[in-house]
Amino acid sequence: MPAGAVVGLDTPKSDARGYITQAARGRVGESTRLSPRTPIALMPRPILATIHLGALRHNLAVARQRAQGARVWAVVKANAYGHGIARVFDALRGADGFALLDLAEAELLRKLGWRGPILLLEGVFEPRDLEPCSRLGLWHAVHTDAQIDWLSQHKTQTPHHVFLLMNSGMNRLGFPAARYRTAWARLNALVQVDEIALMTHFSDADGPRGIDHQLATFEAAARDLPGERSLANSAALLRRGDEPRVHQDWVRPGIMLYGSSPDYPANGIAHWGLQPAMTLSTQVIAVQQLQAGDSVGYGSTFTADQPMTVGTVACGYADGYPRHGGTDTPVLVDGQRTRTLGRVSMDMLAVDLTGLPQAGVGSEVTLWGRAANGTLLPVEEVAAAAGTIGYEQLCALAQRVPVVVQE
Ligand SMILES: Cc1ncc(COP(=O)(O)O)c(C=O)c1O
Repeated sequence: MPAGAVVGLDTPKSDARGYITQAARGRVGESTRLSPRTPIALMPRPILATIHLGALRHNLAVARQRAQGARVWAVVKANAYGHGIARVFDALRGADGFALLDLAEAELLRKLGWRGPILLLEGVFEPRDLEPCSRLGLWHAVHTDAQIDWLSQHKTQTPHHVFLLMNSGMNRLGFPAARYRTAWARLNALVQVDEIALMTHFSDADGPRGIDHQLATFEAAARDLPGERSLANSAALLRRGDEPRVHQDWVRPGIMLYGSSPDYPANGIAHWGLQPAMTLSTQVIAVQQLQAGDSVGYGSTFTADQPMTVGTVACGYADGYPRHGGTDTPVLVDGQRTRTLGRVSMDMLAVDLTGLPQAGVGSEVTLWGRAANGTLLPVEEVAAAAGTIGYEQLCALAQRVPVVVQE
């Protein structure tokens, strides 16, 4: 193991030349902790994702402060929004529970030593999933009559803690308000169930429509039902979390924990005091000088109208960078803001180095996150240029990108 490397949950695996092996890269259950002195330069390509534990802790503290005493589920579905559950676990273990979808991810959290609450946000997908719920002590959402039927047939020594999901207007999962109380009564009659919490999910917490119509539906239908309540995602927590009827007993922040703004472009991370938890960085690997009329990349979609300097960068769509952005997606070179040019290819993209005379081969390129000089490029700005959102961009980080964890 290289000098200066920190042993994480799994010992980093590298071959004789110091290359990080595929086995050591970002799978569920793997955590690679390397110091900045680890010989990344020996790797075949300079691309690297860095997970910032300090930023995760900071963002969790922001969520807790907004939650005003409500308990906090750290939403870690989709392998912690692409960051890796094992990698973020230490930083987020200050949460009151973890919320996710996959049984494998729940099992991993137990293996990592988490003994507190784990919530399956979509509940079980088939009856046999109830056995691991009993064995691992998982709490689970209930959103269909079939799930109640399965529970009623389930043999267990330990009654389950369930979150009864109401469809208050998103029309994705949950019992409609008119059938909510019947579902509650069915669950309440089961010996397999001890606690029933009440839950709904907002469709427009980040936008102008807001949450009031869903709040009204939820409150009317759940009115005098006992049980804890859980309503707010990141956007509701940040925009309305100071209202007790919004934060209730449990809040469910996801994206804000990873330092991406849920309501960009209305508000960015600076407004919410969040810090990016992932940096995707690489280097300039070649420089081209263009004359007016020269074009860049596949399809020649960008043509220079004056002499320009163009940097070729070791990052492409096979690394998870969005192909749809094209020219003008923001990027940092040596911590200075510039733009992409032309089409993104599988392994490379082009950046405008005109006006950055110090930049050249080897220059640091920050695709999103924090540059070495501290300049930030929020992932949602990159995503927006490609017609998508920070959530998708973070989840899209490709398996082939090596990942390191830093304080
Ligand atoms: C049921 C539920 N709760 C909470 C969250 C977290 O949402 P966000 O990442 O917007 O905070 C999600 C994510 O989509 C979800 O599906």
